Amino acid sequence: MTFYFTSTPERGAVWRALFAAETPELAFVTKEDAPPPADTRYLAAWAPTAELIAQLPALEVLFSIGAGVDQIDTRVLPHHVALVRMIEPGLTQGMVEYGVMATLMLHREMIDYRLAQRDGRWAPRPLVPAARRRVGVLGLGELGQAVLAGLRPFGFALSGWSRSPRTLPGVACHAGADALPGFLAACDILICLLPLTQETRGILNHATLSQLPRGAAIVNIARGGHLVAQDLVALLDEGHLSGAVLDVAEPEPLPPEHPLLRHPRIVVTPHIASATSAQSGAHAVLDNIRRHRAGQPMLGLVARDRGY
Ligand code: NAP
Ligand code: GLV
Repeated sequence: MTFYFTSTPERGAVWRALFAAETPELAFVTKEDAPPPADTRYLAAWAPTAELIAQLPALEVLFSIGAGVDQIDTRVLPHHVALVRMIEPGLTQGMVEYGVMATLMLHREMIDYRLAQRDGRWAPRPLVPAARRRVGVLGLGELGQAVLAGLRPFGFALSGWSRSPRTLPGVACHAGADALPGFLAACDILICLLPLTQETRGILNHATLSQLPRGAAIVNIARGGHLVAQDLVALLDEGHLSGAVLDVAEPEPLPPEHPLLRHPRIVVTPHIASATSAQSGAHAVLDNIRRHRAGQPMLGLVARDRGY
């Protein structure tokens, strides 16, 4: 029985050692070693091709190397194959750091101060207490909840939005499409941590972003496909929005002259908000393999009809 690994050689070396120590009976083969053996039961991949899937007649589980699974074309994945997203503490920690960093940057109006410095202006602005800054998170899953927990100690007024109702300490929770306008109207800083699905593609558009209060700012650390770029640029140019921090874009990489890269009120980073840790990512997959073999539910199992 084989585990076939198709991520980077550096990560592969770490996973190989941990798999050898914890599950020596499972052959660990990387794409650098050999083409996939016919007895491959488990595959770890970011975006496996149709050709690769077609070579795996015994495949039972596809483990995504990342938290998102939108990059996986599930049309080429047979229905009996389970799809599992990555849930591991290293990935979560990176997202908490980035979410807190971006929120503090917007809360303390760093975009305005950078622009003032660029123009040689000394321009102090009134200090807004964190309790008067309303921070809302779209998506209350693994990462949305962790970012909210990371923001709590600062005393922000926190809220969140998800598909199904949630109860989180210190967070005003909203659920479903009907609750979206009320949620948006009370967000000075909006953070997107939704999965990219048919329902959420383009959710950060002119109609929704216009419902944020004047002067609001956004953080997109989910997927570029959530944002309609020209709508953001129009709302920044009109002065309805004051800034944006974007870690993700469509396409990636953005071409050098793309308006998102060139706008003075947008901070762009190249999809580095977080990344799966080699060590703890391997442990998460090993744990799920144990669960799978024991007939227990795997953590992060994707509901393929929902897309996340
Ligand atoms: P998750 O645990 O699956 O959580 C998803 C959340 O979104 C859930 O609360 C879910 O609602 C909500 N949701 C989904 N569809 C919705 C809809 N139509 N309306 C309202 N709420 C909806 O996902 P996660 O692990 O937190 O990851 C979130 C995303 O972060 C990933 O999919 C990936 O795209 C992105 N990400 C980015 C980076 C980066 O470096 N930039 C790194 C890692 C992940 P329910 O609670 O009702 O199910
Ligand atoms: C990165 O974007 C991930 O989905 O893990």
